[in-house]
Amino acid sequence: MTTYAIAGASGQLGRKVLDALLTQVDAADIVALARDPAKLADYAVRGVGVRVADYDRPETLAPALAGVDRLLLISGNAVGARVPQHAAVVAAAQAAGVGFIAYTSILHADTSPIGLAGEHRETEALIRASGLGYALLRNGWYMENYTGNLAPALQFGVISGAAGEGRIAAATRADLAAGAAAVLIAGSLGVHELAGDVAFTMADLAAEVARQSGQPVAYVDKSEADYTAQLAGVGLPAPIAAMVADSSFQTSKGALFDDSHTLSRLIGRPTTTPAEVIRVSLAG
Ligand SMILES: NC(=O)c1ccc[n+]([C@@H]2O[C@H](COP(=O)([O-])OP(=O)(O)OC[C@H]3O[C@@H](n4cnc5c(N)ncnc54)[C@H](OP(=O)(O)O)[C@@H]3O)[C@@H](O)[C@H]2O)c1
Repeated sequence: MTTYAIAGASGQLGRKVLDALLTQVDAADIVALARDPAKLADYAVRGVGVRVADYDRPETLAPALAGVDRLLLISGNAVGARVPQHAAVVAAAQAAGVGFIAYTSILHADTSPIGLAGEHRETEALIRASGLGYALLRNGWYMENYTGNLAPALQFGVISGAAGEGRIAAATRADLAAGAAAVLIAGSLGVHELAGDVAFTMADLAAEVARQSGQPVAYVDKSEADYTAQLAGVGLPAPIAAMVADSSFQTSKGALFDDSHTLSRLIGRPTTTPAEVIRVSLAG
């Protein structure tokens, strides 16, 4: 019997990983870790073990990982604070005798020019140095980043960015979660570049939203500075605006493109197409 643990299970990706695991693994063999276990009450009633694990409180991590064979560490969302948080989890995994750790990194982490990649590179390095068996799940951008809220695009007829003609191989959280579950169950060691099968430019995205909605929607490309100012102007805190604009600008250099099709091979089917994700979002 193999015991699987998911750290960051209460988040949007984590819950989908639990859903994917539950289609193939007994609930009794799954441990869901969260700093607030109440958020996972719906999984507890299904028989999933729920334990407290706070990346900022190392004393919670050893008991959380007792008896765990394979751990998925979902990267935290406190940008700038994540390396010590992830280091604490890796140290606890070593101490608990966890045999295998998978970590949600960023697409092409080793070469990515995106500012957010730095913390992922540092985490990957400490995982490689840990001596644990490991899998690096280098996730591309979520499709939902582009389709989660299409209302402003429909209202103003504009999608803005600094991504130029950069092609984006985004994938849904559900597909990335299915990939993570597949890697955990198979114990597939190594680096996995995980992205959608169908890449698109921001202009393609706008054209598909226009086609499906029947309303005029166009992509407007901006400089990184102008896009940063626009995001700050609609209320994003300055560091977040800069981070989003940086990611968008680096997209123009190919930072979010991948054509390895590793994810569809892992999940045994094509990834969900952008057109399908847009259809569901517009129907929403
Ligand atoms: N590929 C992409 O497009 C993309 C986009 C955004 C983020 N990300 C990265 O991918 C991760 C997962 O994405 P997501 O959509 O699931 O994000 P999310 O919904 O924000 O979930 C983040 C998870 O991390 C947990 N967490 C944060 N700080 C923690 C701490 N100190 N101790 C324990 N758990 C902690 C959260 O717990 P709580 O429920 O208690 O808050 C939550 O479960 C993000 O955290 C981020 O690193 C990727």
